[in-house]
Amino acid sequence: MVTQRTPLIAGNWKMNLDHLQAIAFVQKLSWSLTDVAHDFEQVEVAVFPPFTDLRSVQTLISGDKLELRFGAQDLSQHESGAYTGEVSGAFLSSLGSHYAIVGHSERRQYHGETDAEIGAKAAAAVKNNIVPVICVGETAEDLAEHGPSAVPAGQLREILTSLTPEAEIVVAYEPVWAIGSGQAATPEQAEEVCGVLREVIAEGLGDDAAAATRILYGGSVKSDNIASFMRETNIDGALVGGASLQLEEFVRIVQFKKHVGV
Ligand code: 13P
Repeated sequence: MVTQRTPLIAGNWKMNLDHLQAIAFVQKLSWSLTDVAHDFEQVEVAVFPPFTDLRSVQTLISGDKLELRFGAQDLSQHESGAYTGEVSGAFLSSLGSHYAIVGHSERRQYHGETDAEIGAKAAAAVKNNIVPVICVGETAEDLAEHGPSAVPAGQLREILTSLTPEAEIVVAYEPVWAIGSGQAATPEQAEEVCGVLREVIAEGLGDDAAAATRILYGGSVKSDNIASFMRETNIDGALVGGASLQLEEFVRIVQFKKHVGV
């Protein structure tokens, strides 16, 4: 039986847009998607605003019954207590946060997050009914030294030791050299790595989990390259940074099925 994985287009806003800008953006995004009769059952759409925006985004989405989903860009591995500056999965869950990104390369780079911590964060998300979007990816140096899949596969292997097969997860392959560089991976290279990541999920969590888990590609995704990624067997969506802040461009990415040849 072929498992159907609903494609997911996710916009990681990073540290952009305050809560007022977020409300305006999500409102316009929703109108634009309504204008093009977007079918959310066919392609799921989620935004990942900064923490301070989440309550405003939740109020808009639930008040207007929008089909958009939202998530946080990080969460604490701890439930509560003396962890100044941290935000727990329980808090995010009570805000209706469907997802939380864990292990983004910018967290690894600027906050020294390790795969063990990222695994603990993913487990904390699952415990609070939040789907972790687990980011893995190699730097340019890793690529030169180890090739494309060894480092992301090793990261994912370690993170998955904190999880059990029933948990819904999303994996995002984001080569660090492709993030914000305008130089995306080729679809063939991304597919090769995503195929290896699916094997890692099968080894760690079993074949059913591997078949069900959505694997996203991230790194300089634009409307003119999304279709080529989405044609690949093991790529089930995209984690979009810069282009997710450009309304029309993001809508075109979400509408990838309308692009020629898909
Ligand atoms: P860009 O789309 O700006 O390259 O960023 C990708 C990313 O880091 C998404 O998490």
